[in-house]
Amino acid sequence: MKSIQSNIKKAKKYLVKKHCVAVPTETVYGLAGNAYSDISIKKIFKLKKRPLNNPLIVHYYDINKLQEDCYINDNFIKLYKKFSPGPITFILKLKKKSKISKFVTNKNKSLAVRFPKHRLFRQLLKNLDFPLAAPSANISTKLSSVQVSDVVDEFGSKIKYILDGGKCQIGVESTIINLTSKPSILRLGGLDISKIEKVLKIKVLINTNSKKKIAPGQFPLHYSPGIPLRTNVKIPKKNEAFLLIKKRKIKLKNYFYLSKKNDLKHAAKNLYSLLRKIKKNGYRMIAVEKIPNIGIGKTINDRLNRASRY
Ligand code: TXA
Ligand code: MG
Repeated sequence: MKSIQSNIKKAKKYLVKKHCVAVPTETVYGLAGNAYSDISIKKIFKLKKRPLNNPLIVHYYDINKLQEDCYINDNFIKLYKKFSPGPITFILKLKKKSKISKFVTNKNKSLAVRFPKHRLFRQLLKNLDFPLAAPSANISTKLSSVQVSDVVDEFGSKIKYILDGGKCQIGVESTIINLTSKPSILRLGGLDISKIEKVLKIKVLINTNSKKKIAPGQFPLHYSPGIPLRTNVKIPKKNEAFLLIKKRKIKLKNYFYLSKKNDLKHAAKNLYSLLRKIKKNGYRMIAVEKIPNIGIGKTINDRLNRASRY
């Protein structure tokens, strides 16, 4: 308990000094910086090698702080009450008087906001008088990080501090919903769209491959393990790592299991770390068996399809 407090204090110290700190969330690790500071935000873009036109998500403790920066609406309130804190990101209209750094939004008039669920991240946010911009803690277009060792793989000693919150529970990024006009999904993620539709009582548009790319997470190449990957494979080629949804009786060195028993939530949690492991083990190609396209399986397939465009 004591060490948790002192770790949060350390993270706070670096953030107040405008440094970047890696933080755990229930989805993936984030690379956090003071959302009100141009200096902090520029550091995030530089570390991630991220194009400046790809805006960041800002993380808040609760709705009270958010209202200083954004306009809220009825759909937001309904979803916030039901799902926040949790794996959903809302696109809202930015207030003119907001203090959000113009680098966060690339001077756009909308802001992506999220209320993360991880206990440590929430404690940290509660202790700060500014919200935290935090994209996923990985080099742009690469795999997101789901544990401290992944963050170290990505950035080495380039970041000042990593707040260790263990392995991320969900393992894939948040679902993004645009609420600045008719609700539409910009990125599939940790929260099932059917649950969102139940609350809003409407069918929401899915706009994840929009020609007018609002969220660059929609860009075809993303979530790349850095080696070719093919999906819906029945029989792998010689030398390919084979990623499977459930355990098989035969044990082969190149078999990697996303879950023991066809459990899609487990599969999502293990997805990025297994892809990293396969690459680390020296494989040059990955074959993935067909993943059921239901629930969070849709998000897994979205990520695999983007990863396959390497
Ligand atoms: O689960 C998550 O959402 C994680 C954790 C750390 O919170 N964060 C995350 O951030 O995935 P990032 O930056 O890797 O992905 C954010 C996505 C990007 O595709 C970005 O283009 C989109 O959100 N985005 C940010 N601001 C936006 C805006 N105003 N309008 C539309 N899309 C936006
Ligand atoms: Mg990302």
